[in-house]
Amino acid sequence: MSKRALITGVSGQDGSYLAELLLSQGYQVFGLVRRSSNERLERIAHLADSLVLVRGDLLDHTSLVRAMEEARPDEVYNLAAQSFVPTSWQEPVLTAEFTALGATRLLEALRQVAPRARFYQASSSEIFGKVRVSPQDERTPFWPRSPYGVAKLYAHWITVNYRESYGLFACCGILFNHESPRRGVEFVTRKITREAARIRLGLARELRLGNLEARRDWGFAGDYVRAMWLMLQQPSPEDYVIATGEMHSVREVCEVAFDELGLDWREHVVHDAKLVRPAEVDLLVGDASKARRDLGWKPEVGFQQLIRDMVRADLRDLSGRI
Ligand code: NAP
Ligand code: GDD
Repeated sequence: MSKRALITGVSGQDGSYLAELLLSQGYQVFGLVRRSSNERLERIAHLADSLVLVRGDLLDHTSLVRAMEEARPDEVYNLAAQSFVPTSWQEPVLTAEFTALGATRLLEALRQVAPRARFYQASSSEIFGKVRVSPQDERTPFWPRSPYGVAKLYAHWITVNYRESYGLFACCGILFNHESPRRGVEFVTRKITREAARIRLGLARELRLGNLEARRDWGFAGDYVRAMWLMLQQPSPEDYVIATGEMHSVREVCEVAFDELGLDWREHVVHDAKLVRPAEVDLLVGDASKARRDLGWKPEVGFQQLIRDMVRADLRDLSGRI
């Protein structure tokens, strides 16, 4: 009999890649989607015939219980969150409701309906925040620097706590930044690749950015969802850092993206102080040795290829619209 999986956040970047992966492995996949006046399911439109969509919201415990009852899952992946760091200063309480308490509500629904299901929590390298040691691994101390990071740290610890309190098979993947042509346009890589393509096509003249010196460990989302799945196939539940081990600056993303289009980024990028965050995470770089050893996981797509692929995808998409 085929395995059954429930994915929250299925309409997001990672949800769409994970749904593709699980379907390709013969899973029956249920995706939780919340009601919106203007439904945006374009990332999973190509999966419409094979995915079962279940209505529900991380704010609404009853809807999560119903989703569990309908899906009867062997595996649950909690990818839903308010995931954009700047919004977490504008909406700190809502961010905590979705990103922190939402995980508790889902774990409670799981305990109630499907206590033997395996659970994946989307933890984030943002919980390392103001780092004192590099690279960061599973033993690095946490110091989140945004309401988002604080909410993710709560969700991380509640998952660990439910594993220890109730013996759930619950794992946290501490994922470093991962991108793709399906990345939300507000995140810095996609903002750069999309705006660079618009400039190339004469649709825009400049690109306004905040801190160009921030450094991140950027990987490809398709590689990272494979790690999520691998964590739930292990003999015992553990937490893992998932990262490439390479760090690059926002400035380097600009260099590569504009270069792919034959442009000089310095002629188009404008610093905008309004885009600088109240508290910044200056750098993140992960050590995924544990995942490499236990899961046999390693990234397939490198930084240059990732950014160049994103630029080409944006150029294709925008060219098709004009
Ligand atoms: P994303 O594209 O922003 O997707 C977030 C998803 O959460 C969307 O499907 C969204 O649904 C859903 N959602 C938000 N609030 C909800 C609620 N109250 N109830 C139900 N669904 C809700 O994020 P992503 O990049 O795929 O990331 C997936 C997860 O990994 C997130 O938890 C994120 O914080 C975490 N993470 C991401 C990265 C990264 O670099 N991408 C790194 C570490 C951790 P709508 O479509 O309705 O808005
Ligand atoms: N978004 C954005 N827009 N970021 C900018 C800009 C800009 O105009 N200019 C500079 N940056 C810098 C930010 O200050 C930050 O240091 C860096 O670019 C990356 O920003 P984002 O792409 O927004 O990602 P993030 O690192 O804050 O958060 C992402 O990664 C986390 C994992 O570490 C999100 O996907 C989170 O959900 C995820 O947990």
